[in-house]
Amino acid sequence: MQTQHMPVMLEEVLKFLRPAPGGHYIDGTAGGGGHTEAILERTAPDGKVLGIDTDVQALARVRERLAESVSSRRLVLAHGNFAELARIVNEAGFVSIQGILLDLGFSSHQMDNPERGFSFGVDGPLDMRLDQSQGISAADLVNSASEQELADIIWRYGEETRSRQIAKRIVRERAKGAITHTAQVAWLAAAGVPFKPGAIHPATKTFQALRIAVNHELERLEEALPQMLDVLSARGRDETDGRQAGRMVIISFHSLEDRIVKEFMRREARDCICPPHVPVCVCGHKARLRLLTPKPVIPTSEEVIANPRARSAKLRAAEIVVSS
Ligand SMILES: C[S@@+](CC[C@H](N)C(=O)[O-])C[C@H]1O[C@@H](n2cnc3c(N)ncnc32)[C@H](O)[C@@H]1O
Repeated sequence: MQTQHMPVMLEEVLKFLRPAPGGHYIDGTAGGGGHTEAILERTAPDGKVLGIDTDVQALARVRERLAESVSSRRLVLAHGNFAELARIVNEAGFVSIQGILLDLGFSSHQMDNPERGFSFGVDGPLDMRLDQSQGISAADLVNSASEQELADIIWRYGEETRSRQIAKRIVRERAKGAITHTAQVAWLAAAGVPFKPGAIHPATKTFQALRIAVNHELERLEEALPQMLDVLSARGRDETDGRQAGRMVIISFHSLEDRIVKEFMRREARDCICPPHVPVCVCGHKARLRLLTPKPVIPTSEEVIANPRARSAKLRAAEIVVSS
């Protein structure tokens, strides 16, 4: 089945990223290419975009969709993890970046392809790796982790109150034979929960937890954030050309990611990060960011109706403080 990924909060992304003709931007989660395409349009005729994705299938799709921009070198695509942003940017030869977008998580293409193992609705191999060229799959994880480890993962990354029960069921089931398919986990996670029309599927939180664990999603985000700041600041020193300060725009889809983004941006927007009991600043920390969204921006109700995937999206944006 060929699905189309609808870019989430596109208008808001463009409003905060402010892509301008001739500018250089990074889409750290190129996915289905929707945001990338819009940034390319706004930066025409000579702006450039570096599109990064950890999923080779996603990159192949973007390459096909935006073939013209790839051949004119306005779009450079790189396979990699945004946790290695600084290296990827260097290798791509991008030196002056005006904005970086991260639209976290997974795309409709990944979700709707049962072979990728993200879907509890349609059965498929229990993989869940965004980058299938490395790392361990969700099947490896559920068949090897201890009951306690599984309960911790499902609790911490899924915020699932039935985490212990689900972990116990998984361990009991795998004693009969390896767990290899999504339908098995969906069934184990949903067992005993009465079906309520309109409620989220009872396996949703368990699937989210396994996906986050398999892809080390929170760690990768934490690694990426300071690099985004450095990459954007690298041009901030030379602000004599009257161009705008570099901006970062991040869309998250669950509270764990959003908390990491919020805390990072708030900390980097402060001049002093000493603990409150320290009477005089000893940290010497200087604000490197200015918050553009003191509160997260959420999608309009029209967008959520048109694209239910946008339902839990939260957008935060900040711009580099340019030292005079
Ligand atoms: C929500 S989709 C992006 C959709 C895209 N903005 C669009 O409009 O089509 C997220 C994409 O980010 C990729 N991704 C997730 N974590 C990543 C990481 N750590 N490094 C690079 N890409 C990542 C996923 O493979 C997926 O293709």
